[in-house]
Amino acid sequence: MGKMYVFDHPLIQHKLTYIRDKGTGTKEFRELTNEIAGLMAFEITRELPLREVEVETPVSKAKCKTISGKKLGIIPILRAGLGMVDGILELIPAAKVGHVGLYRDPDTLKPVEYYVKLPKDIEERELIVVDPMLATGGSAIEAINVVKKRGAKNIKLMCLVAAPEGVEEMQKAHPDVDIYLAAMDEKLNEKGYIVPGLGDAGDRLFGTK
Ligand code: URA
Repeated sequence: MGKMYVFDHPLIQHKLTYIRDKGTGTKEFRELTNEIAGLMAFEITRELPLREVEVETPVSKAKCKTISGKKLGIIPILRAGLGMVDGILELIPAAKVGHVGLYRDPDTLKPVEYYVKLPKDIEERELIVVDPMLATGGSAIEAINVVKKRGAKNIKLMCLVAAPEGVEEMQKAHPDVDIYLAAMDEKLNEKGYIVPGLGDAGDRLFGTK
């Protein structure tokens, strides 16, 4: 069973409160989403392995640490996942970015891929699939199917807000994928929105309605 972590860092919780507020406009929503994504990436990368290197400071030689060749990849699920990418890249500028676009088939209601572009060496990378909202879990489960089908082995899922229903479905479908959240909310409503949630993350990020 995949593990689930909720980051309760005060800065993450503080910023999340502001993006939940319906009075927060597009500019601030976008900035805060990226800031939260960056703070979450900081926590997620805590366990990255280090190796020792020697550098010469202006004073002497020093044995120091550097991240030991782990290759990272960020995979936003289109469209709302895009809102988290820049914040993560600020911390991990060398990470490669792949994209997965899904639409919901009007007959089957199942997510279907319409755009997939991934780094070539995906099987060697530690991947963070990102999407602000884990609601039913349908798109995140399918996005992870899509990347696994192309060879991905080491995957984490990072979302801002989740419903318990989505977490349960994800853990059933992908028990090898750990889930990282800023908040676990109460439930889904009859329209599939997370309650209390923050509304439609894509619309709020891009100013559409
Ligand atoms: N997607 C969103 O953007 N918001 C929700 O509450 C659920 C799914």
